[in-house]
Amino acid sequence: MPEPIVRLENVFKIFGSQPRGRALELAKAGVVKNDVQAATGHVVGMSDVSFDVYPGEIFVIMGLSGSGKSTAIRTVNKLHEITDGKVWFEDIDVQSLSGTDLQDFRREKMAMVFQHFALFPHRSVIDNAGYGLKVKGIDKVERDKRSMVALDLVGLGAFAQSHPHELSGGMQQRVGLARALAADTPVMLMDEAFSALDPLIRRQMQDEMMEIQKELEKTILFITHDLNEALRIGDRVCIMKDGAVVQIGTPEEILTQPATGYVAEFVQDVDQGRVIEVHEVMVDPEPLSASTNLKEAMLQLGDRAGAFIIDGDGKPTHMLTAADAVRAMVNNIGFAECCRVDFETTSATATLNTVYASSGRGMPIAVIDDDGRLIGNLDPRHIMQEMGRVENLIDGFEREVFM
Ligand SMILES: Nc1ncnc2c1ncn2[C@@H]1O[C@H](COP(=O)(O)OP(=O)(O)OP(=O)(O)O)[C@@H](O)[C@H]1O
Ligand SMILES: [Mg+2]
Repeated sequence: MPEPIVRLENVFKIFGSQPRGRALELAKAGVVKNDVQAATGHVVGMSDVSFDVYPGEIFVIMGLSGSGKSTAIRTVNKLHEITDGKVWFEDIDVQSLSGTDLQDFRREKMAMVFQHFALFPHRSVIDNAGYGLKVKGIDKVERDKRSMVALDLVGLGAFAQSHPHELSGGMQQRVGLARALAADTPVMLMDEAFSALDPLIRRQMQDEMMEIQKELEKTILFITHDLNEALRIGDRVCIMKDGAVVQIGTPEEILTQPATGYVAEFVQDVDQGRVIEVHEVMVDPEPLSASTNLKEAMLQLGDRAGAFIIDGDGKPTHMLTAADAVRAMVNNIGFAECCRVDFETTSATATLNTVYASSGRGMPIAVIDDDGRLIGNLDPRHIMQEMGRVENLIDGFEREVFM
């Protein structure tokens, strides 16, 4: 195991007029947040929080509103004074920093992205992206060069000279990400950075961030209240409740070995995409015969999104989609000409989240066995339905706890 880059040791954060008084004493004795508040009128922001973040990992802090996520991330660059404990950045005792040392530390070691990233309306996208560099005193030429690299990374190279009002919300958030990337700090702190985006854009941003992270080997401390997001992007996930850490583990550990009833309840039904396997959703392949005509093939398709044609060994060779068949019918094209050879395949034991992206193209996916033989037909609508069911569950869940 490498040395952690960020380490919190038994950190307490009490909000109130006398943070180091009785409230801290009670919190240290293990009294829970609500009881401390009832007894002292002080709010426990963090209670005995310890975790290590290792270089190059995406460490996600996940929890409901008020669980202490933002407070925790803010201790890392000393936006908050802590009440007790230690915060380390490598061998720097973060709490001991002040004045220009603290400013330099914040600038050089970490960049931050928030939920609603404020851009300067009168500055171009490239100037917005390079703002952190400007503050560092880096000249315009170098600034633009590095900003451009960052904008390219987030897919906004072509918009360098645009102004924020010309961009969609998702694009603006990307500029925020580019600004953090351009600053070229070893650590990125991201507090609900994608939470305001709609689900598809959000997923795209998650994917891009994971790509970028792989390429640049950044350490990312990412906060979300969305368990699905946490499990999707986190190398490790830290679940918080009432200011305390409930569990730290890999997504698999959280899902399969929830530490407490609270976590178990959280994960129950929530992330089916990871645990539902393809064979649970696929249907019998009912392949089309190769020697048929278009009309006959359409009858065989029925209401399926598409079907496959197999060879003598039972291996899929072609796919006919319902959309292609209709188009061919209209344009008087023959059966053989409207079949495709570019189809996706997967295995019966793959999990649904691995095929979610390709289901977006609306084409069926061929489920094959180890020998390449067709054993199932995976309809994109069924994947969407299954994943949609999951999202509804999460939505319902969030409504339940937030309202
Ligand atoms: N400046 C403050 N003064 C008083 N209490 C605060 C302050 N900041 C946070 N708190 C309290 O500390 C607790 C943790 O807040 P925090 O903002 O860290 O939660 P969070 O997990 O980030 O929630 P959210 O998902 O809503 O952003 C909450 O009970 C909150 O009311
Ligand atoms: Mg917060």
